[in-house]
Amino acid sequence: PVVKEIFGLANLEEKIRTAYGLCKVVVVPGDSETSPLTKKELGRAGAKALLSVMSGNDVVAVTGGTTLAEVAEHLTPPNVSLKQSWFVPARGGLGESLEIQANTIASGMAKRVGAGYRLLHVPDLLGKEAYESLVHDPNIHDIVEMIRGARIVIHGIGDAMEMARRRKLEDSVVEELQNQGALAESYGYYFDNNGVVVHKMLTLGLRLEDIMRTDHVVGIAGGKSKAKAIHAVLKFGQEDVLVTDEAAAEEIVREL
Ligand code: F6P
Repeated sequence: PVVKEIFGLANLEEKIRTAYGLCKVVVVPGDSETSPLTKKELGRAGAKALLSVMSGNDVVAVTGGTTLAEVAEHLTPPNVSLKQSWFVPARGGLGESLEIQANTIASGMAKRVGAGYRLLHVPDLLGKEAYESLVHDPNIHDIVEMIRGARIVIHGIGDAMEMARRRKLEDSVVEELQNQGALAESYGYYFDNNGVVVHKMLTLGLRLEDIMRTDHVVGIAGGKSKAKAIHAVLKFGQEDVLVTDEAAAEEIVREL
């Protein structure tokens, strides 16, 4: 569109798309970190990107976070019926505040577009014993299987240290992450500047091997301070679609 060309956004989109070999990049004007309006635009663009890859009988795994919450807010029912589609949380999410938990977002999205949803009522971070007993519970097993077989994953991206704080990780773990050069966190995994996974959380739900099998991986994140994190996740190489903002995009392109 003309507006995008005036702002030079189309140019940013194309540079990022080719640099990381993505199918599609959408850049909205502004900085979502400082402007609530831009954050809403990011959500709107994310909602559009999600609907564009949905076919009518999909399982969509969604992560938590404030950005995904905005995506949910902006979903509107598409022309095709999504009655046969399911929204599921990518992982357990108890631990974050309710509004930004993956369960809340998955059910919110499903209700907005007339799809079904299933929830995973387990903490995001599990100890070994809890994991072992929960993974064998038949109800949990069913939903976990559904999550791991999702055709579409839509997820947020966070700065590694910021997420370590938000999740109240132990000091020793934070230090380890720092030493390993962790820059990004996404779907429970921490990535360094080369897109190498340096740490993972023991969690029920989506694993890296599932992400590698999914048809569409859609990442949504904006704000200048997330540029390094977005770069790290893109380097991992599983992303298909990136929805971001101008502030992050400019910073990413500067470093190319
Ligand atoms: O905790 C869920 C999650 O999607 C993380 O994987 C990600 O790092 C973070 O939220 C992004 O949160 P926000 O959109 O609030 O920056």
